[in-house]
Amino acid sequence: MNTLETTPQDTFAMPRIGDKAPEFTAVTTQGNINYPSDYKGKWSILFSHPADFTPVCTSEFMTFAHLEEKFAKANCSLIGLSIDGLYSHIAWLRTIKDKIEFNGMKNIEVKFPLIEDISMEVAKKYGMIQPGESKTQAVRAVFFVDPNETVRAIIYYPLSLGRNFDELYRALIAMQTSDKFNVATPADWNPGDDVIVSPAGSCGVAEERMTSTEDLDCKDWFFCTKKLDKDLVLDAILKK
Ligand code: BEZ
Repeated sequence: MNTLETTPQDTFAMPRIGDKAPEFTAVTTQGNINYPSDYKGKWSILFSHPADFTPVCTSEFMTFAHLEEKFAKANCSLIGLSIDGLYSHIAWLRTIKDKIEFNGMKNIEVKFPLIEDISMEVAKKYGMIQPGESKTQAVRAVFFVDPNETVRAIIYYPLSLGRNFDELYRALIAMQTSDKFNVATPADWNPGDDVIVSPAGSCGVAEERMTSTEDLDCKDWFFCTKKLDKDLVLDAILKK
């Protein structure tokens, strides 16, 4: 067999949306953590990157660190991971702070935990190793975990592609909006845009929707939107 081919043994299960986030204890640059229990009551984003001292990862870490406060205001903590050791992590984060300037950011201190995962234990548990892409480095996985420790969204990127942080933040705010206001959010939704009300579950409700004088905008019986004020959304979600 070609040594680059993947075998079933190389492929690891990953949690799915709606699953309880798999538990682990890990050593990080901010001390030991128990995940997800240390984050109960908060949202968290658990993300992996391929390796320390690599350019795309460096650009991403600087961006995450720059935005950490913004995510914290939305009750969301950040936790990074790569298959590197603790001392490599520490050296890399020190280099970022002391030497690297990117997109107008400099002297960036990464204050959120970065997990050492030389054993790949956590990476395997979360399906962050995708052998067709790399057998030794984690891909760029992003797990959104809610305050009840449930996986709510998963986004994967290949090694060569840096993540879009506007989208990560948008997805977080959209999911929190869905939870708070019992609505869904349409394509490209951002706070202030109309939201989707739950679909009609009976013929009667479908008829009502089409004839209603309520503040609904029904394109058809199955596709009704309503206004949701931007400040109402942000006041409900963001810490003052
Ligand atoms: C990077 O972060 O620059 C990188 C890491 C692994 C493979 C390709 C790029």
